[in-house]
Amino acid sequence: MEKRTIVRFCLGLLILTLAFSLRPGRFPPYARIDFVQTWTPTYCAQPDVKCRQNLEPTFTLHGLWPADADGKAPTYCSKKRSDQDIDKETTELRDDLLRVWPSVQEGKTSKSFWQYEWNKHGICCLLNVTKMDYFRAAIAQRNNINLLSIFTNAGVKPSWDATYTEAAIENTVEGHTGTAVHVSCKPMNDTHVKLFEIYICLDVPGTNYVDCPPSGNYKRGCWRPGTETSIIIFPPK
Ligand SMILES: *[C@@H]1O[C@H](CO)[C@@H](O)[C@H](O)[C@H]1NC(C)=O
Ligand SMILES: *[C@@H]1O[C@H](CO)[C@@H](O)[C@H](O)[C@H]1NC(C)=O
Repeated sequence: MEKRTIVRFCLGLLILTLAFSLRPGRFPPYARIDFVQTWTPTYCAQPDVKCRQNLEPTFTLHGLWPADADGKAPTYCSKKRSDQDIDKETTELRDDLLRVWPSVQEGKTSKSFWQYEWNKHGICCLLNVTKMDYFRAAIAQRNNINLLSIFTNAGVKPSWDATYTEAAIENTVEGHTGTAVHVSCKPMNDTHVKLFEIYICLDVPGTNYVDCPPSGNYKRGCWRPGTETSIIIFPPK
C-alpha cells in the first residue's frame, strides 16, 4: 500500500472508532412496552427448566419489553456500566419487586433475573423511561392485573379436562384491559397446545393499556403448523 493510502486508511479508522465510542448506545425506536406474564406450570414443565419446589401455579411476571409495531423487540441496547446498574432502584423497591417479579427458577436469585431482563430489554427504554419508573411500572401493572382471578372469574379454569380457543383466552383478558392482547402457547402433543404467556401492551412509559398489534405480525400465538385453530389446555400443574 502507498504511504498516503495507509495514512488515509488510519485516519478513516480513527474517525470510525471515535464515532462509535461517542454513540450513547444503540437505542432503536419502539412504539410500546409489552407486559409479559408466564403461566408457571407450562414454563416449569419444559425439559430444560428447573423451578423451585412447591411453587403455587401462578402467572408470574416475565418482563416488560419495548417492541415496535411489528412486534420486533430491540434488545441489549447499551453495554455501559452506568446504564446497566440497577442496584439503587432494586434495593429501594426490593420488597415490592420480590412480591411481583420473583425468579421461579431453582438456584437463580430474583436480583439476577431483574438484571438479566433489564440488560436485555428494559435498558432499551432508557431514552424515554427512567430506571425507577420502569421498575415502578412493573409493580403497578402487576398490582393492577391478577390474571388467574380474571380467568377463574370468567370460568376459564386450569384443568386437564377443559379446552379453550385462543380467542376465548384473549377475550377474557380483553374484557379486563379493554385493549387487544396476545397469548402464546407451548406444544403439548399432536393436537393440543399448553397456555404459556399473556402479552398485555402498554404505552410508553408503561402507564396505560394500548392495543397489541394484530398477531399476524408476531411469531407467537397458539396455532399448530397446518391447523387454523388451536386446542388449548390450561394445565393445572
Ligand atoms: C423516546 O425518546 C426519543 C428521544 O427523545 C423520541 O424520539 C421517541 O419518540 C420516544 N419514543 C417513544 C415511544 O415515546
Ligand atoms: C393430547 O392431549 C389431550 C389432553 O390430554 C388429549 O385429550 C388428546 O387426545 C391428546 N392428543 C393426542 C394426539 O395424543
